[in-house]
Amino acid sequence: MSEKVVNLEINGRGFQAREGMTILEVAKREGIPIPTLCHHDALEPVGACRLCMVEITHPNWRGWKGLVTACLYPVEEGLQVTTESQEIHQVRKTILDLLLARCPDAPYIQKVAAEHGVTATSFKKNEVQTVCILCGLCVRVCAVKGCNAIGTARRGIRREIAAPFGMPPPDCIGCTSCAHICPTDAIPWEDVNGVRKIWDQEFEMVRCVSCGRPIMPVTQLEFEAKRAGISPDYMTTCPACSQQKTLETIRTAFTIKRPASEDAVEAAS
Ligand code: FES
Repeated sequence: MSEKVVNLEINGRGFQAREGMTILEVAKREGIPIPTLCHHDALEPVGACRLCMVEITHPNWRGWKGLVTACLYPVEEGLQVTTESQEIHQVRKTILDLLLARCPDAPYIQKVAAEHGVTATSFKKNEVQTVCILCGLCVRVCAVKGCNAIGTARRGIRREIAAPFGMPPPDCIGCTSCAHICPTDAIPWEDVNGVRKIWDQEFEMVRCVSCGRPIMPVTQLEFEAKRAGISPDYMTTCPACSQQKTLETIRTAFTIKRPASEDAVEAAS
């Protein structure tokens, strides 16, 4: 079945898009900037941060306009989208003002806020020290990996990302996906002497069979191997050594001398 294509406008320019795409996906494809904090292309959007607000209207809506989150709103035939206006800027500034109040010491939030003209919060600053903006990317990536080791706990202003019962999460494999996807570096972790520390747990690291460098925690190796349906032994070489081995194999393959009999046939012809 062929995909349905819809026509829409963004900032007065006409575009075509596949039905089901979001406004953010189309804007990204066309190089139209829309700020985001809780979005990642590899994960389902949830509309947590509201920073990607844009204005929409439609010729059939008799002048009605509305603000929607671009990461969630699907495109439709005739949709008219505006990504920059005074009202939109004001909404984004208010969101960043609130985020600065929650995380006054988060460098990334300070940077994004400053880019939108907000250099200090006009709200009461959070007394609890945190750089977590509750975007939920860490929880979502952990779920997509199939671990579900962390989640959200409590409600309202006490809401936080946490492990079950505040204990070291038993389902954590120490992969650090949560820490790497976090836009504000809110999840601390470290690798020291072949041991990884994250979420109040220590994970023994597997070392590369060629160079001896730590690659990943034993728990992650076993998890990934089981998921891929392969022996863990296939994953005990680090990326650098694997690449080196591949290069050597290619070089060897291209320098193999042709059998003398083939040279003789070529010379005789
Ligand atoms: S990026 Fe759309 S709500 Fe956060």
